[in-house]
Parts: sequence; structure tokens; C-alpha cells
Amino acid sequence: MRFSNTLLLLILCFLVITWTVRSVPPQPPVQCDQTGCTVSNTYGVWPNRTNCKAAKVAYPTTEEELIKAVAYASEHNLKVKTVTRFSGTIPKLACPSGSDAMLISTSKYNSAIEIEPDQLTVTADSGVSLRELIDKVEEAGFSLATSPYWEGMSIGGLVSTGSHGSSWSGRGGSVHDHVVGINLVVPATSSKGYAKVVSIEEGRDVKLSIEKAFKRSITYNFTSDVALEDMFMEHGKKFEFGDITWYPSRKTAVYRYDLRSPDDVSGNGVNDFIEKVLETSKSENGKCKTADTTLAYKKLTGNGLKNNGLFFTGYPVIGTQGKLQSSGSCLFTHLHLELISLARGTRDITVFHSMKRLRYSPFQEDSVVIDFNYYREDDALTPRLNQDVMEEMEQMEFVKHGAKPHWGKNRNVGFFGAKQKYGPNFEKFLEVKNKLDPKMMFSSEWSDEILFGRESSKYDGCALEGNCVCSEDRHCSPSKGYFWRQGLVYTQARVCRFSSAQV
Ligand SMILES: Cc1cc2nc3c(=O)[nH]c(=O)nc-3n(C[C@H](O)[C@H](O)[C@H](O)COP(=O)(O)OP(=O)(O)OC[C@H]3O[C@@H](n4cnc5c(N)ncnc54)[C@H](O)[C@@H]3O)c2cc1C
Ligand SMILES: *[C@@H]1O[C@H](CO)[C@@H](O)[C@H](O)[C@H]1NC(C)=O
Ligand SMILES: *[C@@H]1O[C@H](CO)[C@@H](O)[C@H](O)[C@H]1NC(C)=O
Repeated sequence: MRFSNTLLLLILCFLVITWTVRSVPPQPPVQCDQTGCTVSNTYGVWPNRTNCKAAKVAYPTTEEELIKAVAYASEHNLKVKTVTRFSGTIPKLACPSGSDAMLISTSKYNSAIEIEPDQLTVTADSGVSLRELIDKVEEAGFSLATSPYWEGMSIGGLVSTGSHGSSWSGRGGSVHDHVVGINLVVPATSSKGYAKVVSIEEGRDVKLSIEKAFKRSITYNFTSDVALEDMFMEHGKKFEFGDITWYPSRKTAVYRYDLRSPDDVSGNGVNDFIEKVLETSKSENGKCKTADTTLAYKKLTGNGLKNNGLFFTGYPVIGTQGKLQSSGSCLFTHLHLELISLARGTRDITVFHSMKRLRYSPFQEDSVVIDFNYYREDDALTPRLNQDVMEEMEQMEFVKHGAKPHWGKNRNVGFFGAKQKYGPNFEKFLEVKNKLDPKMMFSSEWSDEILFGRESSKYDGCALEGNCVCSEDRHCSPSKGYFWRQGLVYTQARVCRFSSAQV
């Protein structure tokens, strides 16, 4: 039900960011040598920090070649996973089983983008990047109604993981809700040549609905966070593309007033929202100071909006949908977004220094997406500052409030018990999956662990990385003073908390 107050689903996204500054383009995610291939993700490490291996990789450029690759794997009973040019996923959904597995990369399957103006649709090869798609669609005088904030991903990848922008209007903020047709290449019997194409509605690859080109008008209101919890419904209803960024320790909320603008209003704005904030010190104070200057800077610079493509000169910033919805200006300079981690909060869970962003996304019910951006150490066994607060919120939202995970973003704990949250639809999904892939060629123990929300066996430090909920001190980091404790507000939570008395 649109705008019903009954139950708001909380969708929790944990965007894990490894602290690496790169000034060179990232390596392609698949690297092969004589011993085989390794798949990595954008972040450089998978949740449990072990590599994903495969024996070989295929780079089809056409549907015909794609069919051939799937047929080859099917004939030889090989396990397969699809990888993209971007590999932006956090969970190990892209990791195949066994050492003889095969990867099919979509990085060269990206030539076709076809717009059907009369039908208001666009059809694209699944390896096409979001930016390429947006540019083509806008060039032809149309707009995508929604897309993720980050443009460095492929159409196949973003649809597969349920990626989204922010909107409760029309078909909503999730891109897959705008898909009107899709082609799947699946295994087949030998008499059918081992692979076939299944079309769900007509159209090649991914077919999306589009709209006549439109403009948006954005104003950020940096204001008090008082009554945020009462304001967000109203805000989501009122502003088609609204969102809210919350800086709890600064008691500040940034409301994005974001609506369609009439066509004849001039404006050439762009959104350069991706920026970097340095983690200067390990102290909470240091971080709070950084947050102060960061926030002041953001306010001064319109949060990355640029009226004429170059500078911020004042609100509202008006520009085309294609320039305001998705951004990626820092894609090849550094790969992290805002680096924000938690501070304060040993006593008061509402006081922490991280940033949260609320986005609007209709599932069966209108829902809110909560993004936390935080820091991940290079060393698996180094706890994060006040990580108990983060863990408590994670468990509060997933367990207490029944949040659903983002299939491209959450830590493993976000998937525990996920299948129950989908009710009968989960069984329906499995039925279709088994029918299309009876030999489970596209499954692996890694994707099954995520899909079925199974908790793998616990090991020392597993809770630090979101691979388990702790149930003993050793799942935290006792040598660094982090022990197994109960939540402060949500007492059913089990978290790793620092206790100086015990080191
Ligand atoms: C900096 C950054 C910002 C982000 N911002 C947002 C955001 O604003 N909103 C949001 O919702 N998400 C966001 N994400 C998450 C992102 O949407 C997902 O990680 C998405 O999956 C990335 O797409 P990809 O092309 O990199 O796919 P990958 O990560 O390579 O693949 C994702 C999964 O889909 C499968 N897959 C990919 N292509 C195909 C195909 N053609 N056929 C079958 N299976 C396929 C892969 O096997 C894998 O399991 C962000 C991620 C990053 C790194
Ligand atoms: C992580 O996954 C690998 C396989 O990729 C597995 O062999 C290993 O045991 C796992 N590590 C931990 C610490 O669970
Ligand atoms: C900003 O938000 C506050 C709180 O809702 C409101 O009182 C104020 O009028 C808003 N400012 C602008 C410029 O809209």
C-alpha cells in the first residue's frame, strides 16, 4: 500500500569500504595466470577475506557467444558465475564452487543499447554501464525514472542485486520495478544444444521502461534533526526524489527537497556527490572535528551540486535527470565514498557520529533504505571504534524490525534468516530457479550461504567482520579489549564492546 503508515520495512544497507586510496584505475576484477583465475570485488576483499577462484573465464561479446559459453559449461558440467566489469558487490554471490568452475564476464557484452520511442522502452546488453545507458537515453530525449546514486555498475549487476535510487512515486526507486522484459540464457538438454534463451516478455537482454526527458530541481536543507522520525514520511510523500542524510553527532539532518522541474526552466546542474573524507585519527574527538568541518564544507558547496556543471552558486540546482540522479566523478581516483565510522555512544546509542542516509523505496510496502558508510580495517582482527553501536543497530534492524538485506551490499549477518522475510515468494523463486537451472550450475556454496541465510561456522574474530553474531569473547577481539556483550538499548543484541578494564 502506498503511503500507508501501517508497517514500514526497514531496509538496511551496510556499505563496507576498505581504506585504500588509489590513484590508478582499479585492476579488472578477474585476474588469470597458469594456476587459474581469481575474482575480486571493488573493495579488494570479500567478507571473509579469502579469494574466489575459478579455472577459466569467457568474455562473450554477443548473445550467440554467450549461449556458446553457457552450452560449454552445461555440456561439461561446470559450475558458472557471472562477473562484470565493475564487481561492485560485497557479498560473495559472484563466487563459483570448486576449482574447475568457469566465469562468464559481461565486461565485453556491452555494445547494444536500443531505444524504442513509441513503446517508451530501452533494451541494453547486460554489460552496458549505467552511465552509458543514461547518456544514450538522454541523448534521445528520454530519461530513466530511477537509477542508483553511483553510476559505476552494469545493468545486469544492478538489476540482479535489486539496486535502487530514492522514490516512492510511480513504479518507485528500485530499477527492477522498471524492467518490462528480460532474456535469460540458461542450460538445456543435449538435444537442444545444451543452452537456450528464455524470454520473459520480448526484448533482448534487459528492457527497461523510460520516460520523456525531464528535469529536476534540488535544494538541500541543512537543519536540526529534531523530529526526524516524524518528518521522514511526510518528506518521502512530498518530494518525488527526496532523501535525508543524518549526522547524529552533529544533531543535523540534511533534507533533500527534490522534485521534477518544468521543462522550460533553464538549468545545467550536475551532482558530484561522491567525495572523500579522511579518517585522520583513531580518536572520537578527532572524528567529530572532521565531521564538523566536513559538514560545514558540504553546506558551503551545496553537497556536491553544481549549478552550471562547474560551481555551486545557490539553490535550487536544476538540471536533467541524467546529470542529477547518478554520479561517479571519482570512480577512478579513489574508490571509497564518505568515510564515516561510529564514535561516541558507549552510553547513548542515539549519539554517534556516523552518517546515515534514508532513501525511499517501495517494495510490497513503501519502505526506507538505511545506508551506513563505515570503515573496514586492512587487518581482519582489528575492531572498529565503537563497533558495538553499529552491530547493535544492525541486529536491531534485521532482527527486531525484520529489515530485508540489500543483495549487493550487506555483510553476511544481514542475510541470516532472510528467506523467512520473503514468505511464499521465496519458495516461488526457488521453483523458478530449479526449473531454469535444474543442475544448479549457477549455484555455489557461497551464493547458497547468502541466499539461504545460513550462518557458517564461527571462528575467532568472526563478529568483527559481520560474518557471525558473537556468542563468545573469542568471536570478538579479547586481546584488543573487545568482548562479547549484550546490546545497550536492544538488549537481545550480542555485540563486541570495548572494555578498558579488561585489557
Ligand atoms: C561505490 C558504490 C556505490 C553504490 N551505490 C549504490 C546505490 O546508490 N544504490 C544501490 O542500490 N546500490 C549501490 N551500490 C551497490 C551496487 O548497486 C551493487 O553492488 C551492484 O550489484 C553493482 O553492480 P555490478 O555491475 O558491479 O555487478 P556485480 O557486483 O559484478 O554483480 C552483482 C551480482 O549480480 C550477478 N550478475 C551480474 N551481472 C549478471 C548478469 N548479466 N546475469 C546474471 N547475473 C549477473 C553477479 O554474479 C553478482 O552475483 C553501490 C556500490 C558501490 C561500489
Ligand atoms: C572463507 O572462505 C573460504 C573459501 O573461499 C574458506 O575456505 C574459508 O574457510 C573461509 N574462511 C573463514 C575464516 O571462514
Ligand atoms: C528547513 O527545514 C526546517 C525544519 O523542517 C524548516 O523549519 C525550514 O523552514 C526549512 N528551510 C527551508 C529553506 O526550507
